[in-house]
Amino acid sequence: MFPNKAIRISAPAKINLYLHVTGKRPDGYHLLDSLFVFADISDEIHIKPSKKLSFSIEGEFAENLKKEKNNIVIKATKILAKALGIIPLVNIKLIKKLPVAAGLGGGSADAAAVLIGLSQLWESPLSKEKLAEIALQLGADVPACLQKCPLNISGIGEIITKAPPLPKIWIVLVNPKVKVPTPDVFKKRAKPFTTAMPIKVAYDDIDSFVLELKKRSNDLTESACSLAPEIADTLEIISQQHGCLISRMSGSGATCFGLFANKEHAETAVRLIKSKESDWWAISTLLF
Ligand code: C5P
Repeated sequence: MFPNKAIRISAPAKINLYLHVTGKRPDGYHLLDSLFVFADISDEIHIKPSKKLSFSIEGEFAENLKKEKNNIVIKATKILAKALGIIPLVNIKLIKKLPVAAGLGGGSADAAAVLIGLSQLWESPLSKEKLAEIALQLGADVPACLQKCPLNISGIGEIITKAPPLPKIWIVLVNPKVKVPTPDVFKKRAKPFTTAMPIKVAYDDIDSFVLELKKRSNDLTESACSLAPEIADTLEIISQQHGCLISRMSGSGATCFGLFANKEHAETAVRLIKSKESDWWAISTLLF
């Protein structure tokens, strides 16, 4: 019935350049104000038509997910198939290159990539708005991961507007290989709510952009550090690197990042961090 084509979609890492917690809904979900950007490092989703639904995982971080019974990739497949009224006869391979439960939106990015890939394969007539509604059922960050450009996020993650383009920025991402469950981090947050401060103007140079970012924070940092003190060490080691303009945690952690104007400085930072902490995951790449 459908064309016998194979589809490959990348699921880039999502970074929260800042994250303000502005309130809490009666259902326990928190209201956020955040600048979402994407980094040029991705999981990969490969989809091909098959006689039955099957799923496999490969890649550096595959082991962390293999024990999971109901992977978000399968959830996304089933929920889209149901909305379209079809039986999902596909083979899906996830190549997991991003650390798991790490504040990089890996699972959300994978789910979004599956929704995009299957919509292509199944020639879905669903509107963008309907697809975003389906995405939200899979997780608060999934609708944003359908769009791969800088985004101002509010609500619990479902109110999404395009943010101005970024200046050229090198990012160093470092994960100390500790897992901090998102619900625990939100629960431990004790400080008063902060105000929304979306960035609405474009900055051509990284220095003025970073000055703007420094007026904001990641409100989950303290609670994440109390659950995993390695996060504070990670932030410290990143901030000590030559050329690092700002260091901060992404999402609910544990991945932290440093922003750099200079590619060589970012690459040197990764080398030095890995030489000190050989178990940690560290890479440098561009933001978009
Ligand atoms: O929706 P998602 O699976 O990403 O969220 C995981 C958990 O993180 C939620 O169950 C909730 O405890 C917490 N969360 C929150 N407010 C948000 C997003 C997530 O409290 N905006």
